Amino acid sequence: MSPGTQCVLFLLCIMSFAIFTSQTEGYVKLENRLKSKVFLSPKITQLPGSVSNKTYYDIEFPKGHIAIKSFNAEVVDEAGNSVSLEETYIHHWVVVRYYEQIHGKDIIIAGNAGLCDHGRSQFFGMGSETRKTSTYVPDPYGIEVGNPVNVPVGYEEKWMFNIHAIDTRGTVDVTGCNECRCELYNVTVDKDGQPLKPDYAGGLHCCYDGTQCKVRSGFRSVKRDVYLKYTVKWVDWSDSIVPVKVFILDVTDTWQHTGIHDCLFEYDIEKSTSGVATRRSSVSFPAAGDVIYGFAQQYIGGIGAALYGEGGRIICSSKPIYGKGKDIGDEAGYIVGMSTCYPKPGSVKIAKGEFVTLESNYSNKQMHTGVLGLFYILVAESS
Ligand SMILES: *[C@@H]1O[C@H](CO)[C@@H](O)[C@H](O)[C@H]1NC(C)=O
Ligand SMILES: *[C@@H]1O[C@H](CO)[C@@H](O)[C@H](O)[C@H]1NC(C)=O
Ligand SMILES: *[C@@H]1O[C@H](CO)[C@@H](O)[C@H](O)[C@H]1NC(C)=O
Repeated sequence: MSPGTQCVLFLLCIMSFAIFTSQTEGYVKLENRLKSKVFLSPKITQLPGSVSNKTYYDIEFPKGHIAIKSFNAEVVDEAGNSVSLEETYIHHWVVVRYYEQIHGKDIIIAGNAGLCDHGRSQFFGMGSETRKTSTYVPDPYGIEVGNPVNVPVGYEEKWMFNIHAIDTRGTVDVTGCNECRCELYNVTVDKDGQPLKPDYAGGLHCCYDGTQCKVRSGFRSVKRDVYLKYTVKWVDWSDSIVPVKVFILDVTDTWQHTGIHDCLFEYDIEKSTSGVATRRSSVSFPAAGDVIYGFAQQYIGGIGAALYGEGGRIICSSKPIYGKGKDIGDEAGYIVGMSTCYPKPGSVKIAKGEFVTLESNYSNKQMHTGVLGLFYILVAESS
């Protein structure tokens, strides 16, 4: 037998083994059944200093009754090359599940498991940290989607993107543009035409879709198209998968004071000599279960956040990774990743009704506007 024939036979052997194992459910790890696909968002057209904040309905998404194992994204250009955060700052992207009426226009947002009453209903979402933040859901867990039983009759499940990107090529103050300083955007009314509060220095109300951050005079204005490239990994649903629910806690949640989950979304950090600005919010957790995964979301200036259970035990603590150079994925001064938690399953539990406290720390050596303190956790509910 020639080495070539041996090789072919060997390959056939591996292939039939693979087919055999994929049919014997329960004996294989989920990893062996993992599927992966790369998609591109609709085109985002930008000019130096421009802001795009658009919602894209019915985006491409894996079909069927499946368990999502990871969702990662990054900005690429027309040629598919990664774009530096120094040129396109990805302020945030969120992926929201919704049900759309089959013969009509009605839309029902199929939010996550909480906790904000309005907004923050995404299943997946990040900002500049998207390249270096692990989103993998460990075995035997998965985020269940596409289960027809959960879709209202006459509707179908779809997914939408909200992508907020700031083009900072040639801008006079890159950080100021990224923190949405109103003076740099020359904005006095919000996106609905309402006058801004006189003391509102910066934040989302000053960098809505179509606004323009200040660019150096004489900077050549070159139009460019970028895309959010997203990679989804999943397995087909089976009974061996343990479902996890998505919970997002927001440090601006007023629940403690108002009894409702009114999330303000953003807050400011005043300049001070104290070094660290700490903000906390406590909520009563609505479910019981095991924490499987977690990470915090912060903007520039963030130095870490943690979730504490009653009595102060740490549920998960997450720190920003700042870039140190010029390379894509390591852009100096930007948060290029967040550390994540993968507690040993069963080792970190939350009780139903337990008071959970989110703590978000920012450096206050400089002022920061429009910052956020979010904590995303996946919980396997226990009955
Ligand atoms: C700022 O906005 C005002 C009113 O909208 C406009 O008259 C002015 O030219 C703008 N300034 C700059 C620098 O764009
Ligand atoms: C961006 O778009 C989303 C979705 O349309 C909207 O809810 C949000 O208020 C917008 N944010 C800004 C800053 O315009
Ligand atoms: C936040 O800062 C305070 C004060 O420096 C510190 O005690 C606390 O441990 C910090 N929390 C986190 C999550 O880093």
